[in-house]
Amino acid sequence: MEKLLQQIEEYKQEIAAFTASSADDVENFRIKWLGTKGLVKAIMGEMKNVPNDQKKSFGQILNAFKSVAEVKLEELQAAYAGAAASHGAALDFSLPGDPVTVGSRHPLTLVRNEMVAIFKRLGFAVAEGPEIEDDWHNFGAMNLPEDHPARDMQDTFYIRKPEEGNGPTWLLRTHTSSVQARVMEHQKPPIRVICPGRVYRNETISARAHCFFHQVEGLYIDENVSFADLKQTLYFFVQEMFGKEVKVRFRPSYFPFTEPSAEMDISCQICAGKGCNICKHTGWVEILGSGMVHPKVLENFGIDANKYTGFAFGMGVERITQLKYQVNDLRLYSQNDIRFLKQFTGVV
Ligand code: PHE
Repeated sequence: MEKLLQQIEEYKQEIAAFTASSADDVENFRIKWLGTKGLVKAIMGEMKNVPNDQKKSFGQILNAFKSVAEVKLEELQAAYAGAAASHGAALDFSLPGDPVTVGSRHPLTLVRNEMVAIFKRLGFAVAEGPEIEDDWHNFGAMNLPEDHPARDMQDTFYIRKPEEGNGPTWLLRTHTSSVQARVMEHQKPPIRVICPGRVYRNETISARAHCFFHQVEGLYIDENVSFADLKQTLYFFVQEMFGKEVKVRFRPSYFPFTEPSAEMDISCQICAGKGCNICKHTGWVEILGSGMVHPKVLENFGIDANKYTGFAFGMGVERITQLKYQVNDLRLYSQNDIRFLKQFTGVV
């Protein structure tokens, strides 16, 4: 009896002193003490040798010992439950994986990148400039002096108005022609640049107009640059963008900074020329303005207009995107509606 009680005391100390460093250790503890061939069961078996009058008190001692082992096991299992669970999951290759959410580029970015890539193949470099501009780079240098009526073609957001005293007039650029001005300021011909960027106009927001949009404008100045070069460059661009089937037509137009000027239409990409809302049932959609750089603009930057000629063009990224992806409401581009943006996942 004495020996048995002493043995139980030693077991209790061993259990109390036990520490585990892995889930495997915990499992080994369970097997050693509480398994079917474990030490707790073995010592319970001693009950039959205990004299009847001591059975009750000895039973209590044994039960207390058993619960010491059980409580310890619970503690150990709680501490290693996480490790055991993740260990199991890592090995279960039949479990479905965690889905990875793939983002997408904005459709305007996709189209802008494509436009830039096409012009790069023709040898155009990319130039960027500030969105907050002074009057000179946006208007004056572009042959639009202060009271020129053509300023009304573009409704301007003024930051500091001309009538507000001596300082310079500040505005949000209405076109990226302002960047072309900055290029001509610093660079001598030959010049061959495109100017992608955001521009601002004071328009009421609707499906067809917005107070900001994006342009890619282009400028090519060298000796002997002709209107034929302009036409061929733009024809190449739309063929690359929309495919070889696309048709183009030029209509005479007016811009203060080009002479002669023309607007270019392409065959409607939505209805293939049959007539729809987008082309207003004409089969043609206007995509850009263009022309030969006005000699006055060249002279503003000290470029000899007798020696050099150039062409310029400007188009809206939103319009090209509309024709490419059939987006019919300009507001969709800036609403950040995930259902709209998600449709471009995987497009590169
Ligand atoms: N700057 C003009 C616009 O924003 C586009 C254009 C550029 C037209 C170059 C002719 C030549 O409307």
